Amino acid sequence: MKVTIIGSGYVGLVTGACLAEQGNNIFCVDVDPKKIEILNSGGVPIYEPGLKEMIERNRAAGRLQFSTDIAASVAHGDIQFIAVGTPPDEDGSADLQYVVAAARNIGRHMTTPKVIVDKSTVPVGTADKVSAAITEELEKRGLSPELCSVVSNPEFLKEGAAVEDFMRPDRIVIGTESTPAGMRAKEQMRKLYAPFNRHHERTYYMDVKSAELTKYAANAMLATRISFMNELANLADLVGADIEAVRQGIGSDSRIGFGFLYPGTGYGGSCFPKDVSALSKTAKEHGRDLKILDAVEAVNELQKYTLVQKIEKRFGKDLKGMKFALWGLAFKPNTDDMREAPSRVIIAELVKRGAQVVAHDPVAMPEAGHALEVDFKGNPDGLKQVSMVDNPMNALDGADALVIVTEWKAFRSPDFEQVMQKLKRPVIFDGRNLYEPQSMQELGIEYFGIGRHN
Ligand code: NAI
Repeated sequence: MKVTIIGSGYVGLVTGACLAEQGNNIFCVDVDPKKIEILNSGGVPIYEPGLKEMIERNRAAGRLQFSTDIAASVAHGDIQFIAVGTPPDEDGSADLQYVVAAARNIGRHMTTPKVIVDKSTVPVGTADKVSAAITEELEKRGLSPELCSVVSNPEFLKEGAAVEDFMRPDRIVIGTESTPAGMRAKEQMRKLYAPFNRHHERTYYMDVKSAELTKYAANAMLATRISFMNELANLADLVGADIEAVRQGIGSDSRIGFGFLYPGTGYGGSCFPKDVSALSKTAKEHGRDLKILDAVEAVNELQKYTLVQKIEKRFGKDLKGMKFALWGLAFKPNTDDMREAPSRVIIAELVKRGAQVVAHDPVAMPEAGHALEVDFKGNPDGLKQVSMVDNPMNALDGADALVIVTEWKAFRSPDFEQVMQKLKRPVIFDGRNLYEPQSMQELGIEYFGIGRHN
């Protein structure tokens, strides 16, 4: 099938590559010429395991092209996926300007019937806005709005495992209108996703609004679990319990399950923070306070300071002249995404207290460089206190402590002898509970985890 993907970011690129892999003819368009230039010269602007190879393979086979040409992109696909960003507005709601701009572009250029797919995470009611924007443009040109139907097909992939998730999804959610055009759109979506349903049906068909809400409900539920575990971990520290034992004790209950029960330094990334706040905003717009979501957000904000509080408790409030090694910058492993990464708060707070930070991340250092420039805008002296090194062990040289923020596999079993030799003091603050407090104690390492009785 001929498909256009509007927006070549994390979701757009993965969607485009994976649909091309199933034999479809894909046109990826983006308004950022730099991104398209990188893609057209064989590069990939983001890090995602397996993506580069998949893009290369499908480009070579002539099934995947990248362009900034909007008119050509609209002409190409019978199905047009909108996969542009929906960042938070100042008031916490989702900023739909990119979605609406993409919709208008479709309306301005389309001449044949199209299925428009909202892939971006968008609040309930957005399909109507997309439809209205396209209709307005079509009517300006004297064309019938019947030419298009808007479908909601939210994306559930996880950064770091995006290709795998897209190719083998837990579920595919498709929301369609109950009009004749909606029925035809449903049929086209069924055909497009048929290869992903080969072994068993994974698609849930529903109405558009339910599909839009399903995405927010999923992210809000996951964020709630994390904030809940963070609260419990903080309590475990106070009462002298071990959250790791508690995690296993509750996760074994089949009604609860083990997934997403890990406490840490707070959730980050491009999705949970903005989606929780957008859902809360949607509720408020409908006269309802979702108190639980407001609490989830508040807990998460505080949690980003937990490691710094532990550092203060150990070393005092003034960290002048101290140096901290920091492992892990990305908001989670296997990605270079620095959006809302807790490492940014931790670095800023350490520098504010006079400390120097030497950081390492296996892939996110270039992105982290950009993020830190933003965070330290107007504070060049602060920025000078932060450096990055290519090897995690080199970050430790002469540092007063190691701070672990992201659970990359490479950090799971370091050579602790070497760690101790390099650190000025054998102290580890572990925001991901990678190590066992007992073994740390045996090695003579002062170890502070999250909710691990210290
Ligand atoms: P991104 O920021 O990586 O990519 C968005 C791209 O859209 C950018 O390259 C931008 O230049 C482009 N763009 C903006 N306006 C455009 C227009 N009018 N025409 C063409 N291109 C345009 O964003 P990301 O992370 O891919 O997210 C996209 C959407 O998917 C968001 O709504 C997000 O919430 C959702 N989502 C993201 C997931 C993730 O893990 N990143 C997972 C599931 C959903």
